[in-house]
Amino acid sequence: MKQVLIEQYGTPWEVARCAEVADVGDPAADEVVFDVLAFPINPADMGFCRGSYRLKPPLPATPGAECVGRVTAVGAQVKHVKPADLVINLQRENWAQKRRVKGDDAIPLPAGIDLRQAAMVRINPPTAELMLSDFVPLKGGDWVIQNVANSAVGRLAIVLAHQRGLRTVNVVRRPELASELSRLGADLVVVDGDDLAVRVARETGDAPIRLGLEAIGGKATGRICDCVATDGTVVHYGSMSGQNPEVARNNFIYRGVKLTGFMLGRFLAKRNAQKIREIYADLARQVMDGKLHAPVIRSSRSRKHSPMPTKAGATARSWSAPTGRFRENTT
Ligand SMILES: NC(=O)c1ccc[n+]([C@@H]2O[C@H](COP(=O)([O-])OP(=O)(O)OC[C@H]3O[C@@H](n4cnc5c(N)ncnc54)[C@H](OP(=O)(O)O)[C@@H]3O)[C@@H](O)[C@H]2O)c1
Repeated sequence: MKQVLIEQYGTPWEVARCAEVADVGDPAADEVVFDVLAFPINPADMGFCRGSYRLKPPLPATPGAECVGRVTAVGAQVKHVKPADLVINLQRENWAQKRRVKGDDAIPLPAGIDLRQAAMVRINPPTAELMLSDFVPLKGGDWVIQNVANSAVGRLAIVLAHQRGLRTVNVVRRPELASELSRLGADLVVVDGDDLAVRVARETGDAPIRLGLEAIGGKATGRICDCVATDGTVVHYGSMSGQNPEVARNNFIYRGVKLTGFMLGRFLAKRNAQKIREIYADLARQVMDGKLHAPVIRSSRSRKHSPMPTKAGATARSWSAPTGRFRENTT
């Protein structure tokens, strides 16, 4: 079987190569074996190859935060999936032709789901979903503010918040995104800047905003904290700037704003296997209904079973099986 290996950290398409490795073998009683049908290039995979991601295993290592696969064999104790079922994998190392994983890590998806969308269900949809549900009890009509509103997570948060009757303030760095995000259900789209809190207060009629979602870091975290109401909560879940949050202390001392963080694995781990399957079943249903959608720049079918979606927003790169090298495209 084939597997992508990196033997040193560096430029992803220079350090990743396709290797012939031993087959994964048969499943143990509590394991599942599946063929990988598709995997995306997630920004986390790029960081993983560069050695800048939080996980930096000894080399050689295999990237691949996400994938979708078709089950080929299950161990005797595994009851929730069977051969021919589609699954996603809660574990990593998915840039490979086959995977053998613990049964609880194989999450079934409905037959007929678009494989490219299915390959991107594992991380971003539940991230948006759980950040909206796990921090602040919100009811219809309440406001939520988020930055990186045009990111994959941000767009999903707009759709999922709209479904709950929540109103969203969406902070972007490019004004031309406003109409596109409004079509998704965004109530307000504002361009980031020093006077953000003043503009947000004016545009919302001074409405209290009790939840902020934040993934830029640095002073941008502080600007979201400035926007939320007294005793509001800001969830820092990424750092597109690479900087640590920088927040004016008056937010904490005088207004009791809470700054906390989110990591998907940590919040999934609060739930049992059945609950996790239910979350993904609901999200997959919404993908099949066309309610949730991740843009795909292009996909590669260089091998019979390996269409490789590339997320919009990232530079498209395609995997070339004959040379075993990434090619960078200019799209
Ligand atoms: N904690 C978790 O469990 C978890 C799970 C999933 C994702 N994440 C994090 O969520 C974030 C978004 O991920 P994604 O996959 O949705 O991203 P994505 O689709 O690649 O989008 C990245 C977004 O960041 C914006 N951006 C990039 N650099 C920026 C900068 N220096 N200042 C301001 N904005 C900047 C881009 O703006 P433009 O639209 O203007 O280009 C774009 O909207 C990442 O930080 C990721 O690590 C965390």
